Order: sequence, then C-alpha cells, then structure tokens
Amino acid sequence: MNVLVTGGCGFIGSNLVRLLLAERPDWRVVNLDKLTYAGNAESLADLRDHPRYRFVRGDIGNGELLADVMRTERVEAVMHLAAESHVDRSILAPSVFIDTNVRGTQVLLEVARALSVRRFLHVSTDEVYGSLGPTGLFTEETPLAPSSPYSASKAGSDLLALAYAHTFGLPVVVTRCSNNYGPYQFPEKLIPLMIANAVRDRSLPVYGDGMNVRDWIHVEDHCRGLVAALEKGKAGQVYNFGASSERHNIHIVKQVLQLLGKPESLIQYVKDRPGHDRRYAIDSAKAQRELSWTPRHRFEEALAATVRWYVENRGWWERILTGEYLKYYETQYGGR
Ligand code: NAD
Ligand code: DAU
Repeated sequence: MNVLVTGGCGFIGSNLVRLLLAERPDWRVVNLDKLTYAGNAESLADLRDHPRYRFVRGDIGNGELLADVMRTERVEAVMHLAAESHVDRSILAPSVFIDTNVRGTQVLLEVARALSVRRFLHVSTDEVYGSLGPTGLFTEETPLAPSSPYSASKAGSDLLALAYAHTFGLPVVVTRCSNNYGPYQFPEKLIPLMIANAVRDRSLPVYGDGMNVRDWIHVEDHCRGLVAALEKGKAGQVYNFGASSERHNIHIVKQVLQLLGKPESLIQYVKDRPGHDRRYAIDSAKAQRELSWTPRHRFEEALAATVRWYVENRGWWERILTGEYLKYYETQYGGR
C-alpha cells in the first residue's frame, strides 16, 4: 500500500514513519511536512536512502502540491498528523493554528476526496473533550468542549473530517489520543522540557499548583493504535487511545529529577496557563475491543527509558534549542 503521512518530521510522525517501514514491508511511505519549528528532518536522517521512503517538503494548505504528490505516488491512504500542536503557542499566537489545523485539514480532505483515497486517518486529541473533574473518563460519546485555541482548532478539524465522511462518503477514521511521551519530542512539552532543563541544572517551571492531571501513553503504543485504526477502523467512527496512566504533573517532574539525580530545589512554581484544563483521562475500551489494540508500555519503565534517550541523544535536542526556541522560551517563561 502507498501511504501519505503528513507531519512525519514531528514527534509522533517520525516515530510512525519508522514503525511503518519496519513493520509493513510492502508499504511505501511518503512523508509530507512543512518543516516548521517543530519539524526536524534530522529525526529521520538515517532513512534518506530508504527504497520505500520519500520526503516532500510542503504545506498541507497547498492543494496543488498535495494533488501532484498524491497522484505521482499513487497514494491510497492518508495518515494525517501535520498540525500546530502546542497549547501555550496557541495562546500566544492562535492564527496559524486555524490556518494549518482547520484550513489545512480541509484542503487535504478535499484532495483526498477528489482522488478517492481508500482511507483517511485523521489524528486528533483527547483535548477536544475539554476538562474532567476529579472522576470520570472521556469516551467517544463525550461532547466536544475544547478550551484552548489549539483544542478548538483540532475539534474543528475533527468535525470537518467527520462531515466529509457523512456528506461525501470519504472513508474517514478519527482517533483521539491522550498525552504522548518518548523519543524525538520537541523540548517545549512537559516531559522533554523538564529533562532538558534538569540536565542543564536550569529551573523547572511548573504551572499553577502542579496538580493538573494528564493520562500518559508511550508514543509507540499510540503509533501501533494508528496502524490498527487505519487497517481495522470503521469509516465514520472515532477511536480513543490512552494507557490508563493518570499522573499529577508535579509527580512526573519529581520523577524526572529523581531519575537524573537532581535536587527538587530546581522546581519553580510559575503563573498558571490561562484556561488550563485540570484533568484528562481516557477510556480506550472501544479501541481495545474493535481494533484488537492494547498498550504495551508501563509508564514508570518507559519514562526511565525516555529520560535515558534524552541523556544519550543530547545533540539532537541541543541543536533545536537555538534562535526561534530561545525567543519563544523568553516570551513564555520570562528570564527564568
Ligand atoms: P509536532 O508538533 O511534534 O509535529 C507536527 C509536525 O507537523 C511537524 O513536523 C511540523 O513541521 C508539521 N507541520 C506543521 N504545520 C504543517 C503544515 N501546514 N503543513 C505540513 N506540515 C506541517 O506534533 P506531534 O506531537 O507529533 O503531534 C502530531 C499530531 O498528533 C497532531 O495532529 C496532534 O494534534 C496529535 N496529537 C498529539 C499528541 C501529543 O501528545 N503530542 C496527543 C494526541 C494527538
Ligand atoms: O492530551 C493530548 C495533548 O497533549 C496533545 O493534543 C497536545 O498536542 C500536546 O501538546 C499535549 O497537550 P498538553 O497541554 O497536555 O501538554 P504539555 O506538555 O504542554 O503540558 C502537560 C501538562 O504540564 C499541562 O498540565 C501543563 C503542564 N506544564 C507544561 C509545560 C510546558 C507545566 O506545568 N510547565 C510547562 O512548562
């Protein structure tokens, strides 16, 4: 099968491209990525000469380019991951989230429809459901109630994707996953940011009281879920992915410090994120039942392995921490 992965130079996309090439020996993978600040071609540099892989630099908002690539490569299925993905950036500058996540997705859906692709996997997030109180889980029936410009733009794109299924019969499957962690994650997200700061004895900025809860899943488990959804998901359906690993933020920050042998005095409580969702927790029973998918990684071991990966691959993230990132860090965290 010929598959187009959008956003393949990002965190989840690069892990997915590797998994597809390793585990689906008769698939050809085309990776279309704009290489924004979050896209890093270095994450897949070793695949440059792979016979079943092609990289195209481009914007999902460019319909002509998409149609040309998809025709030339005879793309049969789309795995759509390209997005602006960071909540804090969506609070600082929302427009690009609408351009890429909403408009870009619609352009891609339109081209996929015109070329009659066999499958369109739209990769989304549990954040579209909003925030939970102290109990309960998100199911696929939970009403959409996004809080941030990021999650609102993702909810918009989910609804567009489902509308293309309903109205035009495009074989769309939507997935919604909880917080991912693992190798190749840009160090603006909680876990890699805390590791990168702790390694360099810099302060660890914890928002609010540190008691917000996220439900963590290893990126490889998410990627296996995406392949299962592509192969076994029913058109027009939504599938949640999560690994039942709810943790308070402060607990994770302390674990990272412990794994690195660094003192808790590095923790610095800072001003809360505006509109900060309190708790996410996922019910993934539908995906487990209907896609025969089950997460394999246990949080504590996989977090330790992730910390080791960042220590051993310091060059990868240090090369990212240059101009654009430093400017963002200064705006987001001030002089800390
Ligand atoms: P990321 O920010 O690491 O990567 C996004 C990639 O998309 C980058 O390579 C970037 O260059 C590319 N991109 C951005 N705008 C583009 C455009 N206009 N055209 C083409 N490429 C463009 O994101 P991620 O964490 O890997 O997330 C991937 C997808 O999974 C997103 O759709 C996100 O909403 C979703 N998701 C992420 C998580 C998570 O915890 N990270 C959880 C659930 C769902
Ligand atoms: O739930 C899935 C979502 O998870 C994805 O859709 C998003 O793309 C992804 O970025 C992630 O969103 P979060 O906002 O949950 O992730 P982030 O890593 O930014 O923050 C995790 C928690 O840690 C959150 O409660 C905010 C807190 N935090 C984050 C940063 C960056 C801090 O306390 N300090 C920080 O510096």
